[in-house]
Amino acid sequence: MNHCFATVARGLEALATQELEQLGASAVKPGFCGVAFEGDRALLYRANLWARLPFRILVKLHEFPCGDAEDLYRGIQTIDWSQYLTPDQTLAVSATGKHEQLNHTHFTALQVKNAIVDQQQEAFGDRSNVETQAPDVRINVHLDQGHCTVSLDSSGDSLHRRGYRPAVGAAPLKESLAAALIQLSGWQPEQMFYDPLCGSGTLPLEASLKALNIAPGLFRDRFGFETWLDFDPDLLEQLIQEAEASQRESLPAPIWGSDRSEEVIQQAISNAQSCGVLDHIWFSSMELSDVVAPADSGVLFCNPPYGERLGRDSDLGAFYKLLGDVLKHRFKGWTAFVLSGNKELSQSIGLKSSQRTAVYNGTLPCQLMKYELY
Ligand SMILES: C[S@@+](CC[C@H](N)C(=O)[O-])C[C@H]1O[C@@H](n2cnc3c(N)ncnc32)[C@H](O)[C@@H]1O
Repeated sequence: MNHCFATVARGLEALATQELEQLGASAVKPGFCGVAFEGDRALLYRANLWARLPFRILVKLHEFPCGDAEDLYRGIQTIDWSQYLTPDQTLAVSATGKHEQLNHTHFTALQVKNAIVDQQQEAFGDRSNVETQAPDVRINVHLDQGHCTVSLDSSGDSLHRRGYRPAVGAAPLKESLAAALIQLSGWQPEQMFYDPLCGSGTLPLEASLKALNIAPGLFRDRFGFETWLDFDPDLLEQLIQEAEASQRESLPAPIWGSDRSEEVIQQAISNAQSCGVLDHIWFSSMELSDVVAPADSGVLFCNPPYGERLGRDSDLGAFYKLLGDVLKHRFKGWTAFVLSGNKELSQSIGLKSSQRTAVYNGTLPCQLMKYELY
């Protein structure tokens, strides 16, 4: 049984708890910026392949009290690293959290790496090289309240980088955040989905992956656990085949995206092509002022520019007012969700939200606002 911790963006812990429970994880417990859970190897592979919200899934190896650099070195050396790593494999160590005596994550990681390679040198007369980009084994240490938790990172590259999106617009949403917003909204694939400010298409793409029951991990080159000593390639292959067999052939309701920029629409199209959903989504370049509702009802989603990442723009207030007018006059019968990182701008929409949910877009506190349009 593995004791795991799925790291997620701040604020998404409860949602990720539900997702992991649905995937069959046991002892699922939300924590700070993550969710603890237990499961066997099949569950670990399945969570990496299917979970839409986490960044990484860490597997705990050891936990010990740790007050300073010496405790850390000794604690790391109590682990028999030959079970996880041979000297011809590369490693990378990342550190999170702090302690009074260990307040530089870079130093903490270095100390851990030294403890591991010193043990290897003593046992084998040889040691692993450090490889920061694509190591065979990634180790994470987390310091919290005088405790050190040592884990292996089973994901490798962060899971939010699905691998289908080489082309991104000016301020793309992380795929995992887009998936979380869709989950939060309660949108069901039977409802039409439309993003009129879609940029490189992250929201419509994540909606279509969900609606077509496509596992987000299918686009990755590899998972971290594929270079572990206990990797079971047959098990992963079986899970991939099951995932491929469970995909739906068609969408129950249309998914649309539009944006004023022809360039980002081309990026959205190329992203849709790389995840095999281009035949299912409709993308088009269109000014917001020309947008009309394509059906009597549905869910409109958007992530308008809010100044922070797309540059300060004195016209943004007018743009938000236009968005409010378009919603109010042309989308009667729809439900709209708007992600905004700027309260004043949100007020310029001029509509009363029926629900507001706090989420973080990276480090930026944002709100997902819900509008029922009558
Ligand atoms: C924050 S970005 C959306 C990013 C997108 N969610 C993604 O993940 O790539 C806002 C988008 O609004 C578009 N936009 C700005 N003003 C517009 C307008 N008047 N009409 C249509 N699109 C507009 C921009 O081109 C930009 O792609």
